[in-house]
Amino acid sequence: MTANAATSSPAPSASAKSPVTLAIDIGGTGLKAMLLDPSGKPASERQRIETPAVPTPKAVLAVLDDLIKPLGKFDRVSVGFPGVTKKGITYTAVNLHPDWMNFHFQEELTKRWKKPARVANDASVQGYGAVQGDGVELILTLGTGLGSALFTDGKLCPGLELGHHPWKKKTYEDYLGKRGLEKHGKKQWNEHLQEAIAQTEKLFNWDHLYLGGGNTKKIEFTPPQNVAIVSNEAGLLGGVALWRDK
Ligand code: BGC
Repeated sequence: MTANAATSSPAPSASAKSPVTLAIDIGGTGLKAMLLDPSGKPASERQRIETPAVPTPKAVLAVLDDLIKPLGKFDRVSVGFPGVTKKGITYTAVNLHPDWMNFHFQEELTKRWKKPARVANDASVQGYGAVQGDGVELILTLGTGLGSALFTDGKLCPGLELGHHPWKKKTYEDYLGKRGLEKHGKKQWNEHLQEAIAQTEKLFNWDHLYLGGGNTKKIEFTPPQNVAIVSNEAGLLGGVALWRDK
C-alpha cells in the first residue's frame, strides 16, 4: 500500500498549542487525518490514504497507524465514522464491513495510541465544522455514502440517517451516493440532488443547508440561496467540537 498520499509535507506540530487534536475522517474510499489546534484550526497538512480493499476494523486500524505517523505529537483523537455510532461503539457501516457492528472503536483507539479518543458519525463531525449555530442547519455529505446531520442553534440532533430512508423506489443513498452517481451518470445525479435539496427543505424547513464530501466537485448547478458547498477539510475541522459537549 502506498505509504501516504499527503498533499505536501506536514507542518510541524511541535509549535501548536495544546491540546492538539488528531482529527480522522474514515470514508469508504479514503482515510484522512490532520492535527487541529485548540480552536479547531489546522495545525498540519491533511494526510490521505486509500481505504483498504476489505475494510475490517483490523485492516483500517493498521492503515491508520501508517496515516498518522508523519503528523507527530497529539493529545487526543477525534474520529468521524461512516455509520451509526453511540458512546464510542460503531453499530452500522454499510460502506465498510460487517465486522464494525458493535465494535468498541473508541476504546480500541485509546488502548492503541494511549490517548483519549472520541468517535462520532462522520456527517455530524463535518457538520460541526460547517454550521454557524444559527437556526435549523442540515448537512448532507456526498461521498461513497450519503451522510446527514441536523443542528438546531448549533446543537446536534444525533442519529439522522437520511441516506437509508426510502426515497422514490430505493433510498437517498442509492441515488445520491457513489452507486447512484455511477449508475445514473453525472447529469441525472445532479437532477436528483436538486430534487433532494427541495424535498429536505420542505421536510426540515432548514435555514441553511451545507453540502460536503468529495463528490461536491461533481455539482454542476448553482446552489439555491442558503445552500453552501463546504470544503473537503470540513470533515476534519469539526473534530474539536467533539470535546465541547459533556
Ligand atoms: C452511513 C452514514 C454516513 C454516510 C456517509 C451512510 O451509509 O449510514 O452514517 O454518515 O454513509 O459516510
